[in-house]
Amino acid sequence: MAGLVQRYLDRIWREHAGCDDGQLADYIPELADVDPDGFGLALSSSDGFIYETGDAAVQFTIQSISKPFTYALALEMVGPEVVDASIGVEPSGEAFNEISVDPLSKTPKNPMINAGAIAAVALIPASSPEERFALIRDWYSAFAGRQLELDEQVYASEKATGSRNRAIGYMLQSFGVLDDDPDAVLDVYYRQCSLRVTATDLAKMGATLARGGVNPQTGRRVSNAAVVKRTLAVMVTCGMYDGAGDWVSAVGMPAKSGVGGGIVAVLPGQLGIGVYSPRLDAKGNSVRGVRVCRSLSEQLGLHFLTVARDSRATLRAVYDPEPGIRVYEAHGDLLFSGAEQVIRVADRERDAFQVAILDVSRIDDIDDAARALLSGMAEELRSDGKSGFVVDPDRSVIRADSALDASRFASVADAVDAARLWLDAARRGR
Ligand code: DON
Repeated sequence: MAGLVQRYLDRIWREHAGCDDGQLADYIPELADVDPDGFGLALSSSDGFIYETGDAAVQFTIQSISKPFTYALALEMVGPEVVDASIGVEPSGEAFNEISVDPLSKTPKNPMINAGAIAAVALIPASSPEERFALIRDWYSAFAGRQLELDEQVYASEKATGSRNRAIGYMLQSFGVLDDDPDAVLDVYYRQCSLRVTATDLAKMGATLARGGVNPQTGRRVSNAAVVKRTLAVMVTCGMYDGAGDWVSAVGMPAKSGVGGGIVAVLPGQLGIGVYSPRLDAKGNSVRGVRVCRSLSEQLGLHFLTVARDSRATLRAVYDPEPGIRVYEAHGDLLFSGAEQVIRVADRERDAFQVAILDVSRIDDIDDAARALLSGMAEELRSDGKSGFVVDPDRSVIRADSALDASRFASVADAVDAARLWLDAARRGR
């Protein structure tokens, strides 16, 4: 049944498989040396279950997706007052590599443009560039749950062609934002941008942000929750550069893109998404990555203003009224990630029952994505030689015209009676 969510992801991947709009980044020569058609998608639930499709295991350089993570490390190590004195939090409306500072404060406008990201590197306390890079690399690796490696070729290519970033570095030094040698700071910045990740790594890093700083797979607290909240806020307003307004209205997830073709998107409390597709738009965002995130948000109902309601769906009770019959009682708002969890728990326990009864009579609200997943669950059980009934007096899940109407009951007692008859019939049939 966990295959239901996998099939959603596969379908969205297929919908966009033919997209070849956009151009590879070539201002860093080595970035143009990748397969332009590469396309990977991964999703991590907030408890660390991973769904992957396409080239989710292909490695590419993290590039600007590094920026929110280094910003978070600076917040964690030196605190918000020190960080705020060097880097603002206002969207710039400018290109990511604009040679500019805020006209009044003379500090970078935000940490997602290169100027702010370079300033953030300089805030990481360390006695040498090596130590600074090691801190950064270990920090990202803790979010990803594995040790990330440097792409030496991309690093060398970026360093050799980094005039614009050097201009930014020296400008920051002239305004007193950088105390250290700009070239030494830039060297660490190039290295952080050249760390290799996969779409799956990005989904895991996103899920760690979604969980307020706890990596759901390793169980380790990587960052404190206040730091994550501030980082996600800046991702919402500045993560997609001057495309931020369109992104927030159409997709509605804190996100960050990189010119390596990656995008990380986070639905707080719910999930992390990683996409890889290296053809970019004029703003430096992956064309197909943006479209996939848009489809995921629309089709799975992932906009953060949709899900940011006080109640979340949970399995309130799981019990066996009789051997072979298991009742799953859900309550709260049942949206994509709640339905995904119900399905996954039932899938894990599938050997323990013959009939699953899903009781949604205490659900406050349900959206189309959750409805489709739960209807699919009944069909999957049937094709597995089991049966699924739904206690759904208000027709929250099963519509009047649905083929599943015969599986719908007004009370758990009625559903258990039907399940008992089904079990008797199945036993006689054997
Ligand atoms: O500094 C640069 O130009 C690159 N290392 C990173 C730029 C980037 O990824 C912009 N994001 N879309």
